[in-house]
Amino acid sequence: APDVNAFLRHHIRTVPDWPAPGVQFRDITPLLQNPQVFHVLIDAFVHRYMSRDMRPDVVAGLDARGFILGAVIAYQLKVGFVPIRKKGKLPFTTVEETYELEYGSATVELHADAVKPGDKVLLVDDLIATGGTMMAGKNLLEKLGAHVMEGAAIVDLPELGGSKRLTDAGLPLFTLVDFA
Ligand code: PRP
Ligand code: HPA
Repeated sequence: APDVNAFLRHHIRTVPDWPAPGVQFRDITPLLQNPQVFHVLIDAFVHRYMSRDMRPDVVAGLDARGFILGAVIAYQLKVGFVPIRKKGKLPFTTVEETYELEYGSATVELHADAVKPGDKVLLVDDLIATGGTMMAGKNLLEKLGAHVMEGAAIVDLPELGGSKRLTDAGLPLFTLVDFA
């Protein structure tokens, strides 16, 4: 509902020049801090993914803010949660995926038994910028034979092109707030 989107937008904090000059950082921590807002936020996702045809088998969360949202959404849906972590944190056998950043590259990992072939997975993060992180998550889950049914995030920064890149790659997206 448009009122929910406007309500959430109003509670996102914009921090100028962080972490670098010229960046307007969209800080979602106020959404988590306020109990009423946190509830509205989580319910916006849970409402969508509770419906019979949208219910995932598993929720995968992207390190680190995708863990906060993804775990709560999974709990409410009564499905399992699996973390996609930055390299070097997961103890068991993993699959990994390296992707390009503005400067350098990053590698993320997923436990090899985190999902089964054919599992319908909801992939969750807080924000889509270049889309590199979510694309890497999608690729990891697909290496294990899972089907990533949708990517969900609070914020999309459409001008950075990530959401277009992801949908062009065949990943449907559900986001609540756009910032130009
Ligand atoms: C941020 C954000 C997303 C990602 C989005 O995480 O939480 O995960 O970047 O950017 P992208 O679409 O260009 O990939 P960050 O790398 O700051 O890590 P953190 O969650 O550990 O703070
Ligand atoms: N906010 C949070 N995470 C981010 C941002 C932002 O504005 N840009 C890239 N990752």
